[in-house]
Amino acid sequence: MRTQVCIIGGGPSGLMLSHLLHRAGIDSIVLERRSREHVLGRIRAGVLERGTVAMLRDAGLSARMDAQGQPHSGTCLAVRNRGFRVDFEALTGAQVMVWGQTEVTADLYAARDAAGGRIVHEAEEVAIHDAGGTPHVTYRKDGAEHRVDCDWIAGCDGFHGVSRRTIPATVLRTVERVYPFGWLGVLSRTKPAAPELIYASHADGFALASMRSDTLSRYYIQAPTDDPLEKWTDAAFWDALRRRLPSEVAEAMEIGPSIEKSIAPLRSFVAEPMRWNRLFLVGDAAHIVPPTGAKGLNLAISDVAYLSDALIRHYGGEDDGIATYSDRALARVWKATRFSWWFTTLMHRFPEDGAFERRMKQAEIDYLEHSEAAQTVMAENYVGLPL
Ligand code: FAD
Ligand code: DHB
Repeated sequence: MRTQVCIIGGGPSGLMLSHLLHRAGIDSIVLERRSREHVLGRIRAGVLERGTVAMLRDAGLSARMDAQGQPHSGTCLAVRNRGFRVDFEALTGAQVMVWGQTEVTADLYAARDAAGGRIVHEAEEVAIHDAGGTPHVTYRKDGAEHRVDCDWIAGCDGFHGVSRRTIPATVLRTVERVYPFGWLGVLSRTKPAAPELIYASHADGFALASMRSDTLSRYYIQAPTDDPLEKWTDAAFWDALRRRLPSEVAEAMEIGPSIEKSIAPLRSFVAEPMRWNRLFLVGDAAHIVPPTGAKGLNLAISDVAYLSDALIRHYGGEDDGIATYSDRALARVWKATRFSWWFTTLMHRFPEDGAFERRMKQAEIDYLEHSEAAQTVMAENYVGLPL
């Protein structure tokens, strides 16, 4: 098979890239290791930045989002049993959209199918060859070996994918911070605890009350990464969550059976550069942020904005976008890495925190409550820095 861009990974970044290239008349093939049902069954991000929303609208992918998603103008931060609101719209003129990654991905699959896009599922042993010369990708499917010849390879295959590992260690620089806790997440068919998200800092640890719709709630609590999931019965989860939320909210909230429950580790990770010859890294393949502040999916989509622009200009005869892709993407990645690290550090209990660290975090949250300048810094990062 031959294509212009071989895309490894059929998550949101790979599918969005394929869709945008198709709209510009550029051919691609997506190679995805898992089945479509598996990709669509993964519960992940839930909040879209204004730039992500604008891109989905510009790309003709917003009909369901605009009908069913929830625009949010602010969020609540809670500490010591009280909350205060950060009004994004008043501070920045922008809102965010509560609309799940699963829904974004479903709409992308539908758009690729409608356009006759080539997506290979259950592609095994994907391998990248000769990224510096005549690039090609091989994989196995149903016991047979296949080869895709291409001009460019887009590594959209997440943190555990093959693309980043193909770049020689002498070229790739990485920085990493692993946080000493994870997030236990629960999805439940219950009315959300509050109309807007609540980020809570508590002596027992962080908690987040989020949602996917008026009838579907998403909650997270800080928990040890190695806790066995069996320890977290639904009753234990609801007890821990309600202790950490303001009591007024905790007492009134609806609880019910969990329909998904998992523990995710928290890390900050950045790999540089994001291009090696004819191979690009995109999204989680190049960087991971801790989830606090909902930046992961949004960063993957902003990488796609830069890369699709670079490739479209390349096929129009201009190569400067290819040369600058890595620097442009990384400039935004580092700022989102900083914001996610700051918000994670502020809101969580670290095992090593002593009295001094705890008081500094309290003082910073007090400052945030009473300073419009501090809230503006948070709000402009939360709604998303400009592309
Ligand atoms: P992915 O979505 O990881 O897609 C990569 C795709 O590549 C996958 O479909 C994978 O199956 C495929 N793949 C991997 N290896 C290969 C291979 N060798 N060959 C072919 N295909 C391959 N972000 C938030 O903002 N908020 C959240 O609440 C949140 N929760 C998360 C929970 C979990 C458990 C995880 C893992 C991530 C979460 N994130 C969250 C992060 C967010 O989901 C990611 O940033 C986003 O999915 C990145 O999109 P991507 O397309 O770059 O990568
Ligand atoms: C969600 C996840 C986040 O990390 C966040 O900051 C906000 C919302 C969510 O899954 O709903």
